[in-house]
Amino acid sequence: MTPLLKVEDIHTYYGKSHILHGISLEVGRGEVVGLLGRNGVGKSTTLKAIAGLVHPSAGQIVFDGRPIAGLPAYRLARLGIAYVPEDRRIFPLLTITENLRTGLDRHGVGKARKQELLDKVYAYFPVLAERRNQAGGTLSGGEQQMLAIARAMMLEPQIILLDEPTEGLMPRMVSQIREIIEVLHQEGVAVLLVEQNVPLTLDASERVYLIEKGVVRHHAASAELRADDAVIHQYMGV
Ligand SMILES: Nc1ncnc2c1ncn2[C@@H]1O[C@H](COP(=O)(O)OP(=O)(O)O)[C@@H](O)[C@H]1O
Ligand SMILES: [Mg+2]
Repeated sequence: MTPLLKVEDIHTYYGKSHILHGISLEVGRGEVVGLLGRNGVGKSTTLKAIAGLVHPSAGQIVFDGRPIAGLPAYRLARLGIAYVPEDRRIFPLLTITENLRTGLDRHGVGKARKQELLDKVYAYFPVLAERRNQAGGTLSGGEQQMLAIARAMMLEPQIILLDEPTEGLMPRMVSQIREIIEVLHQEGVAVLLVEQNVPLTLDASERVYLIEKGVVRHHAASAELRADDAVIHQYMGV
C-alpha cells in the first residue's frame, strides 16, 4: 500500500545553515510513528517542512499521492495535515470554544457539522468542556496542550504532527496526552510524534525513526527497540 505521507531525501536551510541533510520517512494511513533524536538534530524542522512552514531546497514530500513540498501551510491544513507546534500557539484571550472554532473556519463545513465536531472533542476532553467559556490563557500547560491538539482535531485531519506534546508536563498530564494519542489512533488519524520521552514514544508508536544531525540514522519497530536499549542509548544518550 502507498503510504499516507512520504518524505524523500529533503534538505532544508536556515539562511546558510544546512539543517536537514536528506531526511526520508514514511507514515501509513492511521499509523502512529515516532521521531526521536537529541536536541538540535532537526526534528522540529522536519515537522515544519511537512507542515509547509519551512520549504525544502531539495527532495520530495508526497501526501496522499500528491507532491506537496513548497505548498503554503494553509493549503496543507486543508488537505488534511494538522500541525501542533512545540509552543502550542493557543490564543490566550479567546475562550476555549473560540480557540476550537478557529479550527472550523473553513469552507464546506456546515453549521451542524461544526457543532458535531465541537461536541465530539468536548466528549473526548471533559476538562475543556467544563471550562469552555474560560480564556485559553487560564489553562495549565498540560490543558493548553490538550486544547492545541483538540483544535487540530477540528480540522478533521488525516495526520497530526505533534512536536514534543509532553514537554514540561506533570506525569498525570503525560498519561492524558498518551490517551489522546490513543484516541487519535482509534479514530484512524495518523500521528507523527516528535518526543524526548522515549518510553512514551515506544509505547504509543508502531515504528520509530532516529535522527542525528539532520539525517535518519536508524529505523525500527517500536517493539524491537523496547527490547534493546542500546540503539536508544546511542542516539538519545539515555
Ligand atoms: N529559525 C531558525 N534559524 C536558524 N537556525 C535554526 C532555526 N530553527 C532551528 N535552527 C537550528 O536548526 C537546528 C535544528 O533545529 P530543530 O529542528 O529545532 O531541532 P530539534 O527539534 O531536533 O531540537 C538546530 O541547530 C537549531 O539551532
Ligand atoms: Mg524541537
